[in-house]
Formats: sequence, structure tokens, C-alpha cells
Amino acid sequence: MSVLNGKKILLGISAGIAAYKAANLVRLFIKSGADVQVVMTPDAKEFVTPLTLSTLSKNPVYSSFYNEEDENAMWNNHVDLGIWADLMIIAPVTANTLSKMANGSCDNLLLATYLSAKCPVYFAPAMDLDMYKHSSTKSSISKLTSYGNICIPATSGELASGLEGEGRLAEPEDILKFIEKDLCSKLPLRGKKILITAGPTYEAIDPVRFIGNHSSGKMGFEMAKAAANLGAEVKLISGPSSQKINHSFVHRIDVTNAEDMYLACHEHYDNVDVAICSAAVADYKPANLSTQKIKKKGSNLTLELIPTKDILASLGAHKKKQLLVGFALETNNERENATEKLKRKNLDLIVLNSLNDHGAGFALDTNKITIIDKNLNLQNFELKSKAAVAKDIIQVVIKELHA
Ligand code: CTP
Repeated sequence: MSVLNGKKILLGISAGIAAYKAANLVRLFIKSGADVQVVMTPDAKEFVTPLTLSTLSKNPVYSSFYNEEDENAMWNNHVDLGIWADLMIIAPVTANTLSKMANGSCDNLLLATYLSAKCPVYFAPAMDLDMYKHSSTKSSISKLTSYGNICIPATSGELASGLEGEGRLAEPEDILKFIEKDLCSKLPLRGKKILITAGPTYEAIDPVRFIGNHSSGKMGFEMAKAAANLGAEVKLISGPSSQKINHSFVHRIDVTNAEDMYLACHEHYDNVDVAICSAAVADYKPANLSTQKIKKKGSNLTLELIPTKDILASLGAHKKKQLLVGFALETNNERENATEKLKRKNLDLIVLNSLNDHGAGFALDTNKITIIDKNLNLQNFELKSKAAVAKDIIQVVIKELHA
């Protein structure tokens, strides 16, 4: 999955012949899963039509502060567009627009939007070679980069003038790769390895029966996705779960019972920076596994159960550099019980779910948590979707890693 998936991209297009390539750029952003809105300078419409761009982006295209032909026209709010965007890219940016951006001019919607944007701004120049070489262009580029904007340099080749040299707009595929690489290098969990356990475990009674629980695995899978989206390399060790995940940074390891989950966790634990145990591991398993299906008899059946290994406690006992996060699902004396678990299992953080909170629990899509750290500081969170809760937990983990 591209790092651009789900990102809101504002594409600014200024008036150069390379503007025709912007249509392909919109297509590539959309294919990466991004939401795209386009702002053009008025003259850019001579090079590529707003209809093409709105069709590809599935959004209206803006080029002026209001539509002069519509007497009920609404103001096209550059501030809103700037706030909406996760990132802005101006491609192509002509010498004229570069110079205006560098000097803070805002006599068209694109320039006003650029000045209002709070997000990272990339710009990809395109112009004739002598214009590109000109000291004033060089000075505009260095002024813009000194403001924190990111230049995607022009490339060399045949130019619209017929001359050969530097000044061609970088190819749309290369612009996409440039932005993806740049975003990846800045992700807060880049280079971090995280182990996450998820789902239930099934403890076999005989070849057809098991002891299990209703855990869906959703919390663990959402945390895996949230951590991977922020650049972490995730080992997701999951018990039987119908959840799906498709992310190039997530390596899913499927296990069935507590013993296999224990072995998989210990195989990877030494290599990770963070371990988050959200699995609802069975606390007991049958003392004897029947190799044949147990036949029904008239009398009662008694199964002897023995404790499984406590995976989280064993990780706590072997902890070296890892940040260790556990979960506690409680029905009474919630904080006391969770704090006791935090200490007993040598954790850095514990995520407490109370079954007394409406909307929190196993099979639901929502959760309400409190996070307790090893200094016993409490953070309460509102009832949220499990996806949003997962993001909150990962943010707390990031803070702890930097503490
Ligand atoms: N856990 C684990 N291995 C087990 C049991 C639990 O890794 N065999 C982990 C869970 O993934 C969770 C935490 O321990 O992060 C808390 O689990 P819980 O069952 O609530 O706590 P227990 O210590 O088993 O205590 P109790 O059942 O008495 O509440």
C-alpha cells in the first residue's frame, strides 16, 4: 500500500506546456489511494482542461476566487483548501509562479492557496533551459526551499522550445516516487520494529473441539495498520481471526494456540523495539489432548485444565530495550487490577478496557480505553472506533519512545 493512501493532495498547476502531464499525475495519485483536488492558474487552462482534471480527480477544479459567469457564485476559499490538504504539490511550476511564490504574491487562487497552506509543499519546476539556469530562478528556488518547501528538480532532455537541456518537468511517475520516498523518510516510526499479538487462541480438546473466546482481533489489526502507516515494520502474530490486512510493512504470522503464540513471540522479541500484546490468549488449556474425537456418554464430562504460558509476563521477564505494552480487560476494580498487572508483568504501558463502559469490548467496532504508564499516570480517551483507538495507542507509544 502506498504511503499516499488516504492522503489529501492539493495539486497546483501553473501555465506551462508540461501542464498536460498533470493529468497523468492526478491519475497516479488517485491510483495510490489519495484524494485529489486541483487548483490551476487561469492561464494553465489553456494547456490542460479543467474537465479532464475534474473527471480524473472526481472533484471540482478551481482556478479563480469565484465563478464570474455565475451570479450566485460562492467564494472559492483558498484557506479551506490549504487546511484540507495533507500535502500540496505544484507541478509544473513556471518561472513566473516560482518567483511570485518566493515573494509572497497572491494575485491568483493558486498563489493564495500556497500562502495559506500549512501542510508540506512540494514544487516541480518546468521551463526552458535558460530560464531554469537564470540566477533569479535559482534564487526563487533556494528562497522557497529555505522556507521549508521541497523542490522536485527539473530533468534534462528535449524542451518545448526544441532546445536540449535542463528544465523538463520530472516525469509524473518520478514525482510520485519522490513524494512517497520523502514522506516515508519522515514517518515517526521509520526504522522501528513492532511486534503485535492479536485475536483469540484456540486450545484443542480433541481433533474437532477447542476452548476459545469471542475476540475478533480487530484492535490488534488496527494497531498493526496504524503503526505500519507511520513507517514501522510490524510482525503481527495473530490467533484465528477473520480480519484481513494488506500492507507491505506488515508481516502476518498465523498461530492457533497459546503455545505457538508464545514461541512466535519469543522468536521475534529480541529484534523488536516495541511489543504490544492485545491477543485474548486463553488462560487455560486441556491437560490432555485427545487424539480421537471424544464420544458422547450419558454421564457428565469433566475436563482437567492447566494454565497456558503467560506470554506477556514472559516478555516482561526477558525485557531488555523493548517498550512493552499490555492490555487489561476488567469488570471490577478496573484501575487497581490493571495497575497490578502493569507491575507484575513489568510493562511500560497498559491499555485498560472496562466491560462496564458501554461500547467497549470484544465483538464491537468501538472501544473506550484508559492508558496507564509505569509512573502510574492515567490518560482517559473517549469512546471511539477501534481504528481511532489504535491510532491513539500508537501515538502514546511514539511519545514513550521519545521520552
Ligand atoms: N496475556 C498473554 N498471555 C496469556 C494471558 C494473557 O500474553 N496467557 C496478555 C494479554 O494479551 C493481555 C494481558 O496479558 O495483554 C492481560 O490479559 P488478562 O487475561 O486480562 O490478564 P491475566 O494476567 O490473565 O489476568 P486475569 O485473567 O486474572 O484478569
